[in-house]
Amino acid sequence: MPVTPSILHDLFSLEGLTALVTGAAGGLGRAQSLALGAAGAKVIASDVSVEAARQACDHLEANGVECLPLEIDARSLASIDGAFDTLDAAGEIPDIVVNNAGVSLRNSALEATPEEFDTTLSINLRGTYFVAQRAARRMSGHGGGRIVNVSSIGGLVVDGERSSVYDASKAAVVQVTKNMAFEWGRYGIRVNSIAPGYMRTAMTTDLLPTKEVEDELVRTHVPLGRVGEPRDLNGAVIFLASAASAYVTGHTLTVDGGWVVSM
Ligand SMILES: NC(=O)c1ccc[n+]([C@@H]2O[C@H](COP(=O)([O-])OP(=O)(O)OC[C@H]3O[C@@H](n4cnc5c(N)ncnc54)[C@H](O)[C@@H]3O)[C@@H](O)[C@H]2O)c1
Repeated sequence: MPVTPSILHDLFSLEGLTALVTGAAGGLGRAQSLALGAAGAKVIASDVSVEAARQACDHLEANGVECLPLEIDARSLASIDGAFDTLDAAGEIPDIVVNNAGVSLRNSALEATPEEFDTTLSINLRGTYFVAQRAARRMSGHGGGRIVNVSSIGGLVVDGERSSVYDASKAAVVQVTKNMAFEWGRYGIRVNSIAPGYMRTAMTTDLLPTKEVEDELVRTHVPLGRVGEPRDLNGAVIFLASAASAYVTGHTLTVDGGWVVSM
């Protein structure tokens, strides 16, 4: 059967849906928000401060995407609950949640501090967990939803020296994605994860300090021959947020130029 525009629309359109994105002002958050908006979703752009959330919305609105700014500090359950209270009061229940907020505090396993450990786990894992939980409580009474947790190749393999704390947080995201998918399928909530390789954002500036370092990293790790750009996540996030992935849950989709296939 030929693929018609209407089949593509039915599979990938997010028209009429609302997508909450955390860390929406950052490199990958911005790109994923824009992709979801381009597919037709209204975007609730959240970040650690309301100013950052507004900046994200300004960028989206300049690109024709309807946007609502929202402060969510992923470290704080009070902040997460306050944000969902705000959405409840506005009658907004997200159909899609992209748990993208994250930090990467790199240190060796001999030197990593309890502060680095707690900060990393509180944002990357605890924040992801409770944003998903708070959203799922609402989605479950509303016919379901789609949750996309942003993990990392570091959640699947060792992605270098000084990665133990970050990788632990992202491996846990891969695992809770499976547990949530298992528990929440009965409510029509699909939970999947994206594991990006190295993408060019503020987070990887330190990891890619020079062209020489980048070239060597690409030569040794990336079969597709380049570092990722934020837009490389567009297809993955639209797929996992849309009807195209209606029978996919608990999955972690690598978007890594082939990094993990050789590990
Ligand atoms: N860039 C990469 O190569 C790469 C690779 C794999 C995974 N990731 C993951 O992708 C996600 C986005 O990373 P990025 O590359 O866009 O980084 P980034 O630094 O550009 O953006 C991170 C965003 O998270 C926000 N944030 C930080 N602390 C927060 C908090 N307490 N509460 C809410 N928001 C907070 C920041 O304000 C920022 O907007 C992260 O989860 C990261 O671990 C990135």
